[in-house]
Amino acid sequence: MAAPAPVFDSPDPSFGDLLAARPALAMDSVAGLMVEEVPLARIAEVVGTPTWVYSATTLRRRARSLIAALRDAGLDASIHFATKSNPALAVVNLLHQEGLGADVVSEGELRAARAAGVPANGIVFSGVGKTERELRLALAEDILQLNIESAEEAEMLSAIATSMGKRARCALRVNPDVDARTHAKITTGLTENKFGVPIAMAPALYANMCALPGLDPVGLTVHIGSQIAHGMGSYLTAYQRLGELVRELRSAGHPVLRVDCGGGLGIPYRDEAPGSPAALAGAIKAGLGDLGVKIMLEPGRWICGPAGVLLTRVIVEKRPMTRRFVIVDAAMNDLLRPAMYEAWHGILPVSPHAFHAPLSPADVVGPVCESSDTFTRDRDLPALPANSLMTFLDAGAYGASMSSTYNARPLAAEVMVEGNRFAVIRDRQSHAALLEGQRLPDWAT
Ligand code: LLP
Repeated sequence: MAAPAPVFDSPDPSFGDLLAARPALAMDSVAGLMVEEVPLARIAEVVGTPTWVYSATTLRRRARSLIAALRDAGLDASIHFATKSNPALAVVNLLHQEGLGADVVSEGELRAARAAGVPANGIVFSGVGKTERELRLALAEDILQLNIESAEEAEMLSAIATSMGKRARCALRVNPDVDARTHAKITTGLTENKFGVPIAMAPALYANMCALPGLDPVGLTVHIGSQIAHGMGSYLTAYQRLGELVRELRSAGHPVLRVDCGGGLGIPYRDEAPGSPAALAGAIKAGLGDLGVKIMLEPGRWICGPAGVLLTRVIVEKRPMTRRFVIVDAAMNDLLRPAMYEAWHGILPVSPHAFHAPLSPADVVGPVCESSDTFTRDRDLPALPANSLMTFLDAGAYGASMSSTYNARPLAAEVMVEGNRFAVIRDRQSHAALLEGQRLPDWAT
């Protein structure tokens, strides 16, 4: 059974509203929907579908406005892009050119960040279960900071660092027991969640960390959840609690040089009104501003979500009884968010005629053999005959990075647009690649 569609108490935004709020997109009366100055129809023709398309200008603009907001608030801050949201080398490299480091959570992401040109001293390693191999690699690379999630991990890291003749620069991840009021599957700052250590245990644990021979504790880290879109209240509470903790640790004689404020800033997928970078900077300043700590931030979605669309082609429209199903060549294996979180993504047709055509409610679904392979239900859409192109909006974060090859569907291609140019930044996976590395057991006949 598919999950029931979320019920909204406001009408869906119109195509015009969606477009007006997304400066990277434009509707040309002849060429149709464009990302920057490149018609999506051209990308579909050259690269095929489904394809992720990212706007480089949007990535740059958003990185710059976040940097400016922190600077304008007078904060000494560094930004470490959460590569889990979009680990494409071209994306991480572009953001690095804009002055961002990387927040990684696995050996794969660490290697990707390095391959994208991010220096080791711009990399933070987060994550609730780092393996010994990952800790060793992070130490060998001499990255900026490891975020520790438990007493057990602190002991393990200290032992590994000592065996390598090193001291690990690390921060303690504190769980401030704050409700970020986001989707249950992406909230992280409550005691019931697996992340970090309860704030009440932090003073004793930090003291232990300071006493361990292989550790060089440099501060604290917190991340309360993702797609935070209900104002700044939960951020404010979390940073105030962290501020009090910094004072307490210092009065006990421990060094606290940095506070990593995590990520989580939401974006308007539908009609949410999340806080701005300036409001986030204000919350950080209010909670931590007078402590003289270096601020770090680990945003993902806010930077790259609005920069990407998923371009797809209609395979067929079928109308059994009273329902209308638009079956497209993208599926839940490409964009998982609707199936996993009942997430709402804007949809725009690519053709200029469809943009102004009469609308009727349709379910947009993929070809995967699951009822949850449903992008939306009862969305007002124009006629979308076979071969029409359409786009899912705000797919630049947790889109390609959460893709799988379920139903033996190769990973989609990824394209970056800048001005009137576009480049394939990741080839569509080949069918041969899907079979690579597989073999029959030697006893098979
Ligand atoms: N730092 C840590 C420790 C995190 O766990 C995360 C996200 C971030 C930073 C970046 O958060 P952001 O700024 O992107 O909200 N797949 C879900 C989102 C999962 C987020 C996991 N952690 C989705 O599609 O909504």
